[in-house]
Amino acid sequence: MWQRIVFMLFVLVSAGVVAYAIMVPHVVQPAAFNHYKHVHDLNMPCVACHNGALTEVHATLPHTRICMNCHGQSTKAVFRTIQGFFKKDGEVPWVRVTHLPDYVYFSHRRHTELGQLRCQQCHGPMERQTSALTAPLLPMSMARCIACHRKMHAATDCDACHR
Ligand code: HEC
Ligand code: HEC
Ligand code: HEC
Ligand code: HEC
Ligand code: HEC
Repeated sequence: MWQRIVFMLFVLVSAGVVAYAIMVPHVVQPAAFNHYKHVHDLNMPCVACHNGALTEVHATLPHTRICMNCHGQSTKAVFRTIQGFFKKDGEVPWVRVTHLPDYVYFSHRRHTELGQLRCQQCHGPMERQTSALTAPLLPMSMARCIACHRKMHAATDCDACHR
């Protein structure tokens, strides 16, 4: 009898582990990063690192040579990791966590430069983030896009976003 109970427990636990692995996205970032330190303490503007955010479709993640300007000489372990990636591949392979599917059209410039929105209205309080992201602070769902478009009288017809 107890063997069957142990077996059933084993099956349940395995199923739980598999379900967890499928349902929870496991992003592991290659190095540490601290938005709070750079944005809050050092007062760096978002676009110093995310070059395209005001002028292009994509905000982009920073080139590692930007980091090397300040961290190229430091011997602290975190900076050694970043220097190691820079020497090997030229870039830290940050994992992007904010994605839209291919069938959605979105432009940063349209929202920041023309729409005059702040980054935080869509991305949440990034300036308080002390570790590299493993998930976006706010989800980029169709419901959120449309709620704001309604409020601000921007386009809500399907082919504004789906082309
Ligand atoms: C209207 C909402 C909105 C605003 C405002 C906005 N973003 Fe984004 N951001 C997005 C969406 C949606 C994506 C995902 C885009 C995709 O997958 O093509 C994204 C992606 C990003 C990414 C990931 C890399 C990339 O190139 O896609 C970064 C970094 C980023 N935004 C930074 C910023 C910064 C910095 C600002 C302010 C200057 C900003 N965003 C303003 C919605 C916004
Ligand atoms: C304008 C200079 C400057 C630039 C550019 C810069 N940093 Fe920093 N960063 C600093 C300073 C100053 C500190 C705090 C001093 C320290 O910890 O040695 C710091 C701290 C850090 C820390 C340690 C944070 C902590 O919690 O202690 C990491 C990791 C880091 N930076 C990574 C990066 C990465 C990655 C980039 C490029 C995307 C970058 N930095 C770009 C100046 C800069
Ligand atoms: C010193 C450089 C630097 C500054 C300044 C900076 N960021 Fe970043 N940002 C990064 C790096 C490096 C990453 C990738 C690692 C991480 O997730 O923290 C990142 C990631 C992000 C992402 C997630 C992108 C994705 O989809 O993976 C968003 C959104 C973002 N930053 C928004 C902002 C906003 C908004 C500001 C200003 C309030 C800002 N950043 C200022 C370097 C910077
Ligand atoms: C916080 C408010 C806000 C959010 C969230 C937002 N938008 Fe917008 N969007 C605007 C505003 C305001 C405009 C009009 C900008 C202008 O041209 O003056 C706009 C314009 C657009 C346009 C151009 C429409 C046209 O007339 O052709 C597209 C496409 C678009 N947004 C897509 C998106 C998508 C996709 C999302 C969700 C991932 C999104 N937006 C989220 C406020 C927002
Ligand atoms: C302001 C931008 C915007 C407008 C307008 C918009 N969508 Fe979307 N739509 C999105 C975004 C962003 C996604 C992907 C994010 C998500 O899955 O929630 C999406 C996803 C979808 C999906 C896939 C959903 C799923 O669950 O797989 C369908 C279907 C869709 N939209 C249909 C429509 C139709 C029909 C209209 C017109 C009535 C419309 N959309 C208008 C932004 C928009």
